[in-house]
Amino acid sequence: MGNEKTSHSRTDRRRSKVKNTIGNSVSVTLFGESHSEGIGVVIDGLAPGIRVDCQFIAEQLELRRPKSQISTPRVEKDNFRILSGVYEGKTTGTPICIVIPNEDIKSEDYGEIRFKMRPSHADFTANEKYHGFEDFRGGGHFSGRITAALVAAGAIAIDALKNKGILIESRIVRLGGVDNPENIEEIILDAKTKGDSVGGVIETVVTGLPTGVGEPWFDSMESMLSHAVFSIPAVKGIEFGAGFSVADMLGSEANDPFRVVDGKIVTETNNNGGINGGITNGMPVVFSTAIKPTPTIFKEQNTVDIRDNSNTTLMASGRHDPCIVPRVGVVLDSVTALVLCDLLSARFGTDWMAN
Ligand SMILES: Cc1cc2nc3c(=O)[nH]c(=O)nc-3n(C[C@H](O)[C@H](O)[C@H](O)COP(=O)(O)O)c2cc1C
Repeated sequence: MGNEKTSHSRTDRRRSKVKNTIGNSVSVTLFGESHSEGIGVVIDGLAPGIRVDCQFIAEQLELRRPKSQISTPRVEKDNFRILSGVYEGKTTGTPICIVIPNEDIKSEDYGEIRFKMRPSHADFTANEKYHGFEDFRGGGHFSGRITAALVAAGAIAIDALKNKGILIESRIVRLGGVDNPENIEEIILDAKTKGDSVGGVIETVVTGLPTGVGEPWFDSMESMLSHAVFSIPAVKGIEFGAGFSVADMLGSEANDPFRVVDGKIVTETNNNGGINGGITNGMPVVFSTAIKPTPTIFKEQNTVDIRDNSNTTLMASGRHDPCIVPRVGVVLDSVTALVLCDLLSARFGTDWMAN
């Protein structure tokens, strides 16, 4: 049942592009909904001859899977299938399609949110954009569930980069307002017990990147990474290097002086996060990502009922993560790897990735 909208908005819809694709030389297209038959990804433009290790893909998916009491009780097996683009364990160079079935579904939990919009989830905006035709169950196309497909695709990219000596690592540096938290479980369980949720910050470091990767202006390394990172649901901020704190530094403090060490040009500090002018300078690429507290909480909140545009309250039901942060590190690694494959292919050519 779709909402009745004006002819004006329908015309706009026809004119606008509906895309779920990122990337140029290497592109990634996502599809699926939280409670549909399945989710998946199409990766196009990856070099032929890259190893595809199904065991490694499964291990990466395991890292994203819910973590006992501190995550959602929904546990999917993530029995992925590669439909195309891989032959005898190597990429063929043609589009790779990976599908992951949704098996642990309880759609009855979501009856009410069809009309009562969860604050800070995508229920309202999806309803506005898709005129009520959206599959709202479990957050539909906006669900964190879709990130499993990104992780499966990212695993192939991470493996290819590792083969080139390029390593990506993400770690939690802040959670529930605590820096370098040692008691992650405790912080999350405390919020969960109160029917609430917490967010945090993850730092990602890429080492081994050659210099000269990234384009000036619009496809800069920062722009492309930010584009991909902001695609991850619940991401609300990204900082490169010293990030927002550079605003308070003097130039003499913020600049990264160059030195030659063992014949290689390096910088003494890395406040610019390994990127100058949108292009890698050979230092580690470092960025931090802010992840908001899970929007669905088990406390009564003000909202609206779109059936009659009335003010009401919502007490959410369903299965949710009291904190998304512990599950997102591997998603960040994955989108980072896919962006790097794209920009490295632009710099050195498609085939370089496989050599
Ligand atoms: C791995 C992962 C798991 C998530 N789990 C939940 C969840 O259980 N409940 C929820 O309300 N939001 C969850 N989210 C966040 C929502 O999908 C997200 O907040 C929503 O789509 C709105 O998008 P925005 O926060 O980017 O504006 C999750 C996100 C990720 C990446």
